[in-house]
Amino acid sequence: MLNRDPAMNEAQTPEHRHDCRLDGQVALVTAGGNGIGEGIVMALARQGADIALADIDAASGERVAAAVRSLGRSAFFVQTDMADTQAARGMVSQVAEHFGRIDILANNAGGGRPVAFMEQSERSWRRHIDLNLVSMLTATQAAAEVMIAGRRGGCIVNIASSEALRAAPGYAVYAACKAGMVSFTRSMALELADHDIRVHALAPDMIDTPGLRPYYAQASAADIDSRDRYIPMRRMGTMDEMGDIVAFLVSGMASYLNGVTLPVDGGASASHGWTRAPGSRKWVLHHA
Ligand SMILES: NC(=O)c1ccc[n+]([C@@H]2O[C@H](COP(=O)([O-])OP(=O)(O)OC[C@H]3O[C@@H](n4cnc5c(N)ncnc54)[C@H](O)[C@@H]3O)[C@@H](O)[C@H]2O)c1
Repeated sequence: MLNRDPAMNEAQTPEHRHDCRLDGQVALVTAGGNGIGEGIVMALARQGADIALADIDAASGERVAAAVRSLGRSAFFVQTDMADTQAARGMVSQVAEHFGRIDILANNAGGGRPVAFMEQSERSWRRHIDLNLVSMLTATQAAAEVMIAGRRGGCIVNIASSEALRAAPGYAVYAACKAGMVSFTRSMALELADHDIRVHALAPDMIDTPGLRPYYAQASAADIDSRDRYIPMRRMGTMDEMGDIVAFLVSGMASYLNGVTLPVDGGASASHGWTRAPGSRKWVLHHA
């Protein structure tokens, strides 16, 4: 983070850091009690940030908060249903009151259940929108207010999905929300630039988290083989790998990066239809 006063002379360039250290900064991570959120929390704490995390599940949130404290950093957990706008706003206020500042926000709350759109109820699609899209809008507005008042700049990272960038049959509303996150990221990168708040999105695919494990516990060897054939790196990503990318994006090492959507997918989006042939490392186009 740059600690730049937005009123500074335009000819000056901000101080540039050559490491990812975040000492003295406060990071807020939504749905930080498991999976990608937990990976982000731990990566930011390892770089020296104090951590606020919100999660609907108290046991998970308290477990991760304890892990942060064991690294010597402060942790503040607020049990929150991020789909509840009032609760999400209240949570950000509590965090600002507790730490007196917010420098980093990771909008990670989200998820979806598979259902064909023609069979999806309005209640279900509204729940998807509230959890994936509205939670980000609420937390962004509330946390950016704190960042702007602090005049120290900041960084917001929105955890979208590879589904934001491609079709997702069975996940149409989830994918539309994630595409909305990517669009919102670009607009905020412009609207918040005068306050030295940078805004990014990540588009992960196949990160090994508790959320995905039940699916792969039931998957056949053929399912796993076909997954590993379309991912050029031939494996899933880890929570720690996601966290370290967020740590880089929010750090002074990335001080001139703003408004990007970065696929975190082992090269899957680059392959665009190329996969490995079954039982082989040979690349083929549009193989079944
Ligand atoms: N795992 C992947 O491969 C992958 C791929 C693309 C996008 N994502 C996105 O990453 C984010 C995290 O996914 P994950 O795989 O780590 O999930 P996960 O299921 O492993 O963990 C989700 C966490 O969110 C919490 N949570 C659930 N509902 C909540 C709510 N209403 N309010 C607050 N917290 C809530 C849960 O208690 C849990 O701690 C989601 O936005 C998801 O869409 C994940």
